[in-house]
Amino acid sequence: MKLLITGGAGFIGSNFVIYILQQHPDYQIVNVDALTYAGNLENLKSVENHPNYTFVKADITDVQAMDALIGQGVDVVVNFAAESHVDRSILEPDVFVKTNVLGTQVLLDVAKKHKVTKFVQVSTDEVYGTLGATGLFTEETPLTPNSPYSASKAGGDLLVRAYHETFGLPVNITRCSNNYGPYQFPEKLIPLMISRALSDGALPVYGDGLNIRDWLYVEDHCSAIDLVIHKGVLGEVYNIGGNNERTNVHIVKTILQELGKPESLITYVQDRPGHDRRYGIDPTKIMNELGWKPKHTFETGIKETIQWYLNNKEWWTRIQSGEYQKYAEKQYGSR
Ligand code: NAD
Ligand code: DAU
Repeated sequence: MKLLITGGAGFIGSNFVIYILQQHPDYQIVNVDALTYAGNLENLKSVENHPNYTFVKADITDVQAMDALIGQGVDVVVNFAAESHVDRSILEPDVFVKTNVLGTQVLLDVAKKHKVTKFVQVSTDEVYGTLGATGLFTEETPLTPNSPYSASKAGGDLLVRAYHETFGLPVNITRCSNNYGPYQFPEKLIPLMISRALSDGALPVYGDGLNIRDWLYVEDHCSAIDLVIHKGVLGEVYNIGGNNERTNVHIVKTILQELGKPESLITYVQDRPGHDRRYGIDPTKIMNELGWKPKHTFETGIKETIQWYLNNKEWWTRIQSGEYQKYAEKQYGSR
């Protein structure tokens, strides 16, 4: 089987490339990534010489480049490539529409032309908007995205759905909750708080800190996508999550405790505009129909993740000295 993985130099994409080469060493993997600020080939050092792995630097909005790649006998496209950070989408929405909507449409068109056997769209629970105090997102929950990021992901999802309905393109859409683990860019809550706590910096918690996210260790997301590629029923959507709802302030306090740092580092700052209050995934469908089960609990996953950031300080300090610094200054005043 030949897989085209888009966005494979990012956080989840690079974990997925590594995971899939471990699970299916005979598969041919082509990783295409534009290497934006979030793409980092260092993440892929362990597989760069694997005989069945190839990297191509290209943008998913580039029709000719995608045509050349998918036209070379690709069976399955797995689309991770995206602008992924909500706060950046508030500062600069246009690039989110370009990559997440137009980029998806380009891939769908080329996938249709070359008759791939499956197109997997890696999406997010954020397309469902926000929950109140009770209830969970199911695959039937209406899409009511609240940020430019989630609106652009919802736009991509709707195009995937439309290519299935209109052209019969064989597709699946996955919608996962918040991931954490190795190689997550230090703009996202968990690595941001770990890196700032380690340098005794202020930890910026938005609003009252009681917003809830449903956390999943990245390897469990990878195993779910692997199952969807092989067993997903065409045209279906699968929600992915491990029932790990936590408030943001609980996450931050857990990190401080693990690192032996004081809670006085917590600084409550102005809330994110349009900040979704609560996410919670109902994973019954993927568990019952495809037999998926997460391996990691939040308690083991967060410890492993903190240890990874402690062991890989060079990886994130190098990132923080680059383009990220400009963004952090805009977002937080300083790093
Ligand atoms: P990320 O920002 O770490 O990585 C995105 C990757 O896409 C980067 O390598 C970047 O260079 C690449 N990319 C961006 N624009 C591109 C373009 N135009 N052409 C080619 N490559 C491009 O993101 P992530 O957190 O790994 O998320 C990956 C996917 O999973 C996204 O589609 C995201 O919406 C989805 N998702 C993320 C989470 C999460 O918690 N991080 C949860 C659910 C779903
Ligand atoms: O739910 C899945 C989504 O999870 C993915 O689709 C997105 O790509 C991914 O970025 C993530 O979005 P969130 O907005 O939930 O993640 P983030 O890490 O940015 O924030 C998590 C929570 O922490 C959120 O409630 C905002 C809060 N937060 C975040 C940052 C960066 C803070 O309180 N302070 C911060 O500095």
